[in-house]
Amino acid sequence: MIKITKIISVTNENELNILDEVASALKKGEVVAIPTETVYGLGANALFSESAQKIFTVKGRPSDNPLIVHIAKEEDAKEVGKDIPEIFYTLSKNFWPGPLTMIVKKNDKIPYSVTGGLDTVGIRMPDNIYTRYLIEKAGCPVAAPSANISGTVSATSSQYVYDDFKGKIPYIVDNGNCEIGLESTVINLTVTPNMILRPGKITIDEIRKFIPDVIYHPSLIKNVSDIKNPASPGMKYKHYSPSCPVVLVRGNSKDIQEYILKNIKETECAFSFSSYNKLKELFPNFCLGDEDNLSECGEKIFKYLREADKQKVSKIYIPSVKEEGIGVAIMNRLKKTCGGNIVDIKNVLFICTGNTCRSPMAEFILKSYNLDGVFVKSRGLYVCCMSNMAFSSEKTLKDNDIPFGDFKASQVSEEDIVRADIIYTMTNSQRDVLVKAFPHFEEKIKTLKENGDILDPYMQPIKVYQSVFDEIRFAIEKRFLYEN
Ligand code: TXA
Ligand code: MG
Repeated sequence: MIKITKIISVTNENELNILDEVASALKKGEVVAIPTETVYGLGANALFSESAQKIFTVKGRPSDNPLIVHIAKEEDAKEVGKDIPEIFYTLSKNFWPGPLTMIVKKNDKIPYSVTGGLDTVGIRMPDNIYTRYLIEKAGCPVAAPSANISGTVSATSSQYVYDDFKGKIPYIVDNGNCEIGLESTVINLTVTPNMILRPGKITIDEIRKFIPDVIYHPSLIKNVSDIKNPASPGMKYKHYSPSCPVVLVRGNSKDIQEYILKNIKETECAFSFSSYNKLKELFPNFCLGDEDNLSECGEKIFKYLREADKQKVSKIYIPSVKEEGIGVAIMNRLKKTCGGNIVDIKNVLFICTGNTCRSPMAEFILKSYNLDGVFVKSRGLYVCCMSNMAFSSEKTLKDNDIPFGDFKASQVSEEDIVRADIIYTMTNSQRDVLVKAFPHFEEKIKTLKENGDILDPYMQPIKVYQSVFDEIRFAIEKRFLYEN
């Protein structure tokens, strides 16, 4: 049945009673949208099986994916859970009201339709005074998943809730934009050691102060595509997906920007950070703030995914963030959003003696494969002046249809070594020289051939260049085309 959806905006803590009609709808078993500090929720009376089922229907959510039960006061936890461990109260005293959901054994009053058939239940007290008033006034705990159509991006404003549920629910309580913008941290207190099932604003380090042996569920550490053993039922479903493909680009900021600028097409868009001058200029409405302080990024990431979707862009490029603090939660969501579509930028550096014969050939051979996200450079150990590439190297590249542009030999610098992800020398002695000069980077310095040297063709007949070219190409193919 189509209903009119009424939006009730709340801004004044002294006028909480404008929510009373919503509270009585909740009590009666209706589904209403509620604001929280994380994302908007789609709430219903957690004591009624039918109202919980309404949530699953309206959201299009698989029925085995449990709902979080929201309460207004800590003492109400015992109405939702049972055999609640002491640590629950330690955490609630420190983090509630706030973005932490704790899983404990289910109380018999909570129907299995709420917990997706599980004997456990997730409980959270949200940090939103209007929602806590509503829960209290309705007089029942409130089951609420994020207020978005299942599989799409969580809603961080009442407008996005309206976009998804207009005409399908009677009320949306509007309290502006959610300040955190990412769903709560979920911790399972029914297993030993306690496990974090979903990272959020409250980080594992903050929880470790109270539970020193808390760990992440293994699926959060392993590859995202490994969904055979999900942390919680919800994790095995498609998540946070806009309608167009999303590419997550991993690497350092400079490379990420360069990669996106090189690849982006007219109908596509990219998110950026404040330091990404060019990208920010191209897409001024998609800047995620400071990459060293990710709270703005957390707040805006879902918003931007929804906005980009509304603009009907054909692809979204998103830069990776450091997996520290709230960055763990952001990357967790982004890995799901991109569905495994991740470009890992790799900086490859070829080194020879003078950077005129072997390493330039290696550079242009590797570039000719156009490998996605692979940036290639070559340098020399002893470059006296800015010499050109050796004539015979150029000729050999031409004879083998390998394109090359203007080239000047360059001396290897410390910056080159630091920036490279992998460094290939032509000979063992070149490797020894580099390792001696940069011992901290020993791990990434290798000879291009796994065994043996690629000898210098300098001043030799052209056919020697061709055989060096063959040797280099064979080694590159082995390293880049077959081994990965
Ligand atoms: O911040 C939030 O947590 C928001 C707001 C509205 O409170 N809610 C939210 O709910 O994100 P939802 O349903 O979108 O995500 C809840 C996650 C799901 O991945 C679900 O599988 C997991 O928590 N979960 C809930 N109860 C669980 C349980 N008993 N055992 C394991 N996982 C559970
Ligand atoms: Mg959700």
